Amino acid sequence: MDRKKNIYHQLLNSTTQHLEDLKSRGIAYLPISTHSLKNLSRTPSGSQSQPAFSLSEKSSRGHTPASEKNATSPVVAAPAIRPRHAPDFPAKQPEQNQTADLPEKTRDEKIAALRVKALSCRKCPNLVRARKNVVFGVGDIHADLMFIGEAPGADEDRMGEPFVGKAGQILTKIIGAMGFSRQTVYIANVLKCRPDTPDKPYGNRKPTQEEMHTCLPYLNAQIDLIQPKVVVALGATALQGLLGTTSGISRLRGKFQDFKSISLMPTFHPSYVLRAESNPTEAAVIKRQVWEDMLQVMEHLNCPISAKQRGYFLPKNN
Ligand code: URA
Repeated sequence: MDRKKNIYHQLLNSTTQHLEDLKSRGIAYLPISTHSLKNLSRTPSGSQSQPAFSLSEKSSRGHTPASEKNATSPVVAAPAIRPRHAPDFPAKQPEQNQTADLPEKTRDEKIAALRVKALSCRKCPNLVRARKNVVFGVGDIHADLMFIGEAPGADEDRMGEPFVGKAGQILTKIIGAMGFSRQTVYIANVLKCRPDTPDKPYGNRKPTQEEMHTCLPYLNAQIDLIQPKVVVALGATALQGLLGTTSGISRLRGKFQDFKSISLMPTFHPSYVLRAESNPTEAAVIKRQVWEDMLQVMEHLNCPISAKQRGYFLPKNN
């Protein structure tokens, strides 16, 4: 019995560490089966032959078992990222000012409910058939700054998190250079499922108009709940999804647009930066353009900007 309890505590510690690791990478929610949810509510006992939380359960960064994929009750809040300005989930009720908390709780709850809805969405049968995960969004739901891309790629589909592949690494660097992190901004896509490519097992395709039209209510609801001060639209497709414009990204980038009374900054998609890297001169120009757009965003948000930051990607004077 002691040995069983020991194992239980080892598993509990590993699970806690795993959740902390996910949290540090900006993952605030985990898909979880109804069965595991029931087990989680049990207290450990010497007679239990299974730990309360099976470690074979995969997080949103791993593969979800097929039987659980897209289940309708798949979400619990992990011991999660806390909003910058909100305390950790209180273990007991705060003694004073209990109502002051309410709006924040409501936002958490509404986002959680929206996530449940998106994760069980089956409106695009072709995408449902092909997807491994619905990629809802990641980061701080109280963020002032939101980045919006086109659609998940293969890596994002596998991990259940936006912008974790090569383009995502560029985006993460941009966010870091601005003085933010993936945990202090919010990142999402116009499309929550990876566009399928039935005729080939690799590659990406642009979302269709119909897919965007079908999925946009989720993103609009996310934006309405998060209420960022600035939205950065990454690339032409994100811009088209948000503004309904087919004006080219080259023409609109760097110019704030009005979107639901939020300032929207169009800029190039990180994969465009990536593609340009074979030509260092061209890549330097594109990086500087993106960076100038981000400097405008930082100014708009009253972020402190150092001389070093202002000079990123400028040609070196000899
Ligand atoms: N490209 C996107 O537009 N979104 C992602 O999440 C990843 C790559």
